[in-house]
Amino acid sequence: MRPAFIDLHPAAADLEQQVLAGMAKQPRQLPAWLLYDAEGSRLFDAISEQPEYHLTRTETALLQHHAGELAHQLGEGLGSKPVLVEFGAGNLRKVGPLLEALQPAAYLALDISADHLAPACRALQERHPTIPVLGICCDYSQLQQLPPHPLLEGRQLLGFYPGSSLGNFDPAQAQALLAHFGQLLGPQGRLLIGIDQPKQLAQLEAAYNDAAGFSAAFAFNLLHRLNRELAGSFNPAAFRYQARWEPSDSRIAMALVSRQAQGVDLAGRRWNFAAGEPLITEYSVKYTPKAFLALAAGALWRPLGRWSDAADDLSLHLLAQADSGANQAGAPADATMPIQSCSGANHEP
Ligand code: AVJ
Repeated sequence: MRPAFIDLHPAAADLEQQVLAGMAKQPRQLPAWLLYDAEGSRLFDAISEQPEYHLTRTETALLQHHAGELAHQLGEGLGSKPVLVEFGAGNLRKVGPLLEALQPAAYLALDISADHLAPACRALQERHPTIPVLGICCDYSQLQQLPPHPLLEGRQLLGFYPGSSLGNFDPAQAQALLAHFGQLLGPQGRLLIGIDQPKQLAQLEAAYNDAAGFSAAFAFNLLHRLNRELAGSFNPAAFRYQARWEPSDSRIAMALVSRQAQGVDLAGRRWNFAAGEPLITEYSVKYTPKAFLALAAGALWRPLGRWSDAADDLSLHLLAQADSGANQAGAPADATMPIQSCSGANHEP
């Protein structure tokens, strides 16, 4: 079987315009998606394997250990088999155990890059020959609804958003994205999402500044990209990498800090950096279960369950639409109400 593929030809992000907007911010901040060119994606994979960076390993283990239970709860109360929809699917390396356990009617992968998505879909289809795989190349944040397709007709949709990627957005954007998922998945939709949590300071900062230097190389790769694609004159040696926990915003701020006062050319302009001035490459917001569920409630999602590792470092949250009325426990439909407990979870939020 060959996977189906739909290319909606998402408009290429305007690199120059987004970089200029970020350079106008105080502090200067570059868009996080810029990190993932071919070399950046390779470096991120290397970060995932560092002993200091637990996120990917922990989430993968959670998915493996609880796939059966998760599939049971995901499928509970459904008339027919659902369709599993992965957002920002990337290399499709996390969904395997869920596919095996859930045996969905189809698996739909959404990603902005056709170059990555098409081969990943072919490889996944080979590993799971009985599950129809459908790839849609799109900018799902711009997509108002899923395109009509026979595989999706009349199916309940289960969203999957692993990797704690939500942490790259500021909380207001993150909430808007969660609301958007609700729109795409429909009133009967559910969402399984991986969320990394605040933890010990030393552990957090080490995860984003590994001894082997992959985190730093990941950030510095941005300068090379800007030099190449926007006629930049960044001298990497004139910057140092820093990853710092900012408790008031519950986030890691990753930055390249100017070692000296200097001028840099970029996109036809000259930019002055003061000594010690940061250029933010990425934020990684961490949410406690309570904080995440409050954010999700504002986007009309309510909790159905939560799975986490023994150290409670990272959670897989299962959510349903607040007004879907499918909660046997009869949770309040009023999404503005603070959520006290997490029905159906293996422990309290
Ligand atoms: C892919 C956004 C989840 O925030 O942990 C890891 C990205 N950047 N090390 C994260 C990242 C540097 C990662 N996310």
